[in-house]
Amino acid sequence: MTRLVELEESGPRKLDPSDIDDENGDVAVCQCGLSESFPFCDGSHRRTRDEADDETYVYEDGERKVVERVVTADERPEE
Ligand code: FES
Repeated sequence: MTRLVELEESGPRKLDPSDIDDENGDVAVCQCGLSESFPFCDGSHRRTRDEADDETYVYEDGERKVVERVVTADERPEE
């Protein structure tokens, strides 16, 4: 099975102080979808810094590719 997830965030979500783990310290949750330690941020979001607002990207096997935007059935123009 393959799942395509469209995300626009380019940085982590930091939790409030009550969520901080006593052993691990600061916890940041990945919102970009690229972390190897998902759901925790591992800094991989830095790869998104130069993304263009009007492009759609696929990250696969360490490479980034620009793709045509996926059009869902409800966005498809009527024929
Ligand atoms: S937000 Fe995804 S790796 Fe940091």
